[in-house]
Amino acid sequence: MKVLIHQTQTTAADCVAGLFADRLMQKPDTVLGLATGGTMEAVYKRLIARHQNAAVSFSKAQSFNLDEYVGLAPDHPCSYWHYMREKLFNHVDFDSDRTFLPHGDAPDAEAEAARYEAAIVGAGDIGLQLLGLGANGHIGFNEPTSSLVSHTRIKTLTRSTREANARYFDAFDDVPRLAITMGIGTIMRADEIVLLAFGAGKADVVAKMIEGPVSAACPASILQMHRKVTVVLDEAAASGL
Ligand code: GLP
Repeated sequence: MKVLIHQTQTTAADCVAGLFADRLMQKPDTVLGLATGGTMEAVYKRLIARHQNAAVSFSKAQSFNLDEYVGLAPDHPCSYWHYMREKLFNHVDFDSDRTFLPHGDAPDAEAEAARYEAAIVGAGDIGLQLLGLGANGHIGFNEPTSSLVSHTRIKTLTRSTREANARYFDAFDDVPRLAITMGIGTIMRADEIVLLAFGAGKADVVAKMIEGPVSAACPASILQMHRKVTVVLDEAAASGL
């Protein structure tokens, strides 16, 4: 596990954007694994800037997002489909037929999860996976006690995760209780993983992820077992190391 500590969030986000640009330069048809959340907004801004400077193209790439809320249709303003269109897809040259997220409004969510896992396998698995970090150690929506070898499936969100994400909804009760998420096993099959975390609020969980025991109590700790992970932090997030 390589740990890079940056003085500012801007340089940390630009570092991650640079890793994506390098990978796409080497292999334009890379299968990207994408993430949502506040931390990723800085990365997507930097990727859009690089695209506008003609320094990165997504035209031959494809992408699979980590997760989506069960019950939210792609046009729902709080869906991750909506987030991705607003924060990245509408501003770069992805082929819209090659950007994928689970469908939160599928009539059979379990079947949708199985279909999504099969689509990732069919694409040859993720080449470069971007991850954020939940304050409770989740990656994607793999909450604590998730199986460390799980595939894409439905997970029940913890109250703390629903509270953390309530800022995007009108009211706490509007935050869905279930999500479809890539499993930890799905994520671990990625060729390369980049995890980004910012702020003092993540310092404890960052230390557990990097220095603690590998445990389902902190799902991100499984990344210690992956052969090619880069963790990019600002100084505040690194302050517990
Ligand atoms: C959500 C997403 C995660 C993300 C996390 C952190 O729970 N499902 O993939 O890592 O938010 O979000 P933030 O960057 O806003 O702290």
